[in-house]
Amino acid sequence: MNESAIQLAKVRRAINPVYLTAQSCIALLDRAGVEDARRLNAILGMRVPPMPGFMQVAPRQQEYLKRMAVALTSINETRYHATNNYFRSTGMRQFVDMPCGFVPRGLTLARQGTRYMGLDLPAVIDVMGPAVRRVANPGDDITYHAIDATNYASLSQALEGTSGELFVSTEGLFPYLTNTEAHQVIANVWRLLQGRGGCWVCTDFELDAWNRRITIESLERAEYGIDVEVLAKIASGSMETKMDSNFIEGSTREEITHVLEQAGLDVELVPLFDYLGDMKLLESLPEDRRDAVRDLYKDISFWVMTARERSTGETFTDESQDFRVSANYSGDQLFLHVSGRLDTLSAPKLIDLFQMASRRHRFERITVNMNNLEYISSAGLRALIIMYKSLGTRGAFKVINANKDVRHVIVMTGFAEALGI
Ligand SMILES: C[S@@+](CC[C@H](N)C(=O)[O-])C[C@H]1O[C@@H](n2cnc3c(N)ncnc32)[C@H](O)[C@@H]1O
Repeated sequence: MNESAIQLAKVRRAINPVYLTAQSCIALLDRAGVEDARRLNAILGMRVPPMPGFMQVAPRQQEYLKRMAVALTSINETRYHATNNYFRSTGMRQFVDMPCGFVPRGLTLARQGTRYMGLDLPAVIDVMGPAVRRVANPGDDITYHAIDATNYASLSQALEGTSGELFVSTEGLFPYLTNTEAHQVIANVWRLLQGRGGCWVCTDFELDAWNRRITIESLERAEYGIDVEVLAKIASGSMETKMDSNFIEGSTREEITHVLEQAGLDVELVPLFDYLGDMKLLESLPEDRRDAVRDLYKDISFWVMTARERSTGETFTDESQDFRVSANYSGDQLFLHVSGRLDTLSAPKLIDLFQMASRRHRFERITVNMNNLEYISSAGLRALIIMYKSLGTRGAFKVINANKDVRHVIVMTGFAEALGI
């Protein structure tokens, strides 16, 4: 690499908030004895960074933290194998790993004839592409693409040339996304699936259950007299970025389901236990302990999402006016997704689409997703009020994900309650 390429790689790493965590994931898989991780990590040389504050806690608590590290290793190994096993069970042939991080999944799946596409931020792809090329077999169908999961154009470009169903996995992405970013990624995955078919599998929405059951319950924290605050400090110190509006931490399971459904996705929970397969780490435990650890996975599920068939696919776009609205229906509910500027020029387009939809269906509920709406004028507000009034007293109107400025306009004009803000 020349000087400027080295500089660029440094910058890319510095702006990637989870580069270190992604490194730990392969180091943990390597430690768990996953053969492909061992081969790949022999080149990458990645390690689990030392836990900050580790030396300051009492030896007994250090012992606890060591055991917790074993539990984390087990979580990584489980997620890796179970996702691969579930993918095989679907019979699909194209795996989109987003984000791929440094996991060696391409090597594992390509051996069985899968077309594997690893997608991640440039800092990761810079390293992963060349490293995997060194250990892959000549015929392996493995490609890597620099993307940003919140940017649809980058995804569509990466998957150009693919046709047929996609199995999209987003393992380990959502813990690092803000609310706005998470909504954008969900909308993007919907667009990918809607175009090509297939499913989206995510284990992140169960993260809390994983952490609680596997790391806390399995290790009998009380036995070590661990101070929860110390633990939290160590844990937060090891996260590169702390976000104030994290999607997962800020939402219940019901809320996450609601968001997914509103984005046009059907959600099915599939028991992960059925796909555990053989895990190296478990083999090293005494039999009774092995069963106890397996049992802990019984209540944990894959979230499997498919893009809903929509009764109409009307999508209305006017890029030149910097406005986009799309509508879809489910039963008596109308979902509208607006982005850009809702002003005097664009508001009539929203009303046009609404009236067209209303001629075909009778709606009792209207939800307007504004996560990408930058600006609303009084004309835009009037368009919302027209739709709200069309429901009469029978229905419910809700605006969701409005940004601070848009929300401010709605509140200041006295329509917050009517518009469900
Ligand atoms: C904890 S790692 C998980 C990677 C891998 N799936 C695994 O299980 O090891 C999180 C990954 O998310 C990637 N990431 C973070 N924000 C992203 C974004 N906006 N778009 C794409 N990838 C992103 C990081 O580069 C990192 O590789």
